[in-house]
Amino acid sequence: MAVPATADEERLNAEFEAVVDRQERIEPRDWMPEGYRKTLIRQISQHAHSEIIGMQPEGEWISRAPSLRRKAILLAKVQDEAGHGLYLYSAAETLGVDRADLTRRLMSGAQKYSSIFNYPTPSYADVGTIGWLVDGAAICNQVPLCRSSYGPYSRAMIRICKEESFHQRQGYELLMTMMRGTGEQRAMVQESVDRWWWPSLMMFGPPDADSPNTEKSMRWGIKRHTNDELRQRFVDMTVPQADALGVTLPDPELAWNPERGRYDFGEPDWAELTRVIKGDGPCNAERIDHRRRAHEEGAWVREAAAAFAARGRAAAAPAGGES
Ligand SMILES: [Fe+2]
Ligand SMILES: [Fe+2]
Repeated sequence: MAVPATADEERLNAEFEAVVDRQERIEPRDWMPEGYRKTLIRQISQHAHSEIIGMQPEGEWISRAPSLRRKAILLAKVQDEAGHGLYLYSAAETLGVDRADLTRRLMSGAQKYSSIFNYPTPSYADVGTIGWLVDGAAICNQVPLCRSSYGPYSRAMIRICKEESFHQRQGYELLMTMMRGTGEQRAMVQESVDRWWWPSLMMFGPPDADSPNTEKSMRWGIKRHTNDELRQRFVDMTVPQADALGVTLPDPELAWNPERGRYDFGEPDWAELTRVIKGDGPCNAERIDHRRRAHEEGAWVREAAAAFAARGRAAAAPAGGES
């Protein structure tokens, strides 16, 4: 007789936890608790969707970039984000979900993406600010994920983080160039930073006290630091960069705290974050409409690729009879 399911599961669970505790990796064919699988699917797909939707706000500036060099840099960056989305959909598929299904869930609103991409990019300086602040916040969030307990996710993150650090630098370099330009350019940078600062802090999610999934994700080694820890780390990293740029961060409470050895800062507007996550941000509808249109317009590419693959399979199969 087989061991009763519960005892068997207990043993498997103990083995799983031992692997996580030793900071080793869980691989796709390993046994894992259902909650772990579900949490990972949610987190990785949300991350993949964010990369893909995140192409839109900056993509709007590709045709309007002020020089060939700026256009080439921006094009490369937006293409990188597409690549990140694809690695991450592949990582999610190792958990038994289907990418087409994840895309449907994104378009129906059943799955979310990062709230930050629901803000508009009315100014060219936004390209620099997104690179500096948004990719900067993404790096703070993602570097610890390179040690995530799930193998395919952690390996995807190693590659992604290298590219994110290029994104952050190109954004900073663009802002630095503008800050060395005319008074009008400096004002553009400041106006853009004023709009993006608070939404960037919100990228780390709600405060720890309101983040119900954090504890479990940390126990499973999916997450390594809490939202508030990462937010603090981002502020500490960014303030000296803002000083070097010569921009002011729009927070009157921002001040060095010598006792903590860290910066104190004000509270983001959490009601705004909730509104944007629930679909009521400035560009939520526009982003999803655009994604849906791109999906419909790309139908012929998917059909052609599937037909090509089927023809390849038919050609590889034996033509019939004994050889
Ligand atoms: Fe990315
Ligand atoms: Fe990026």
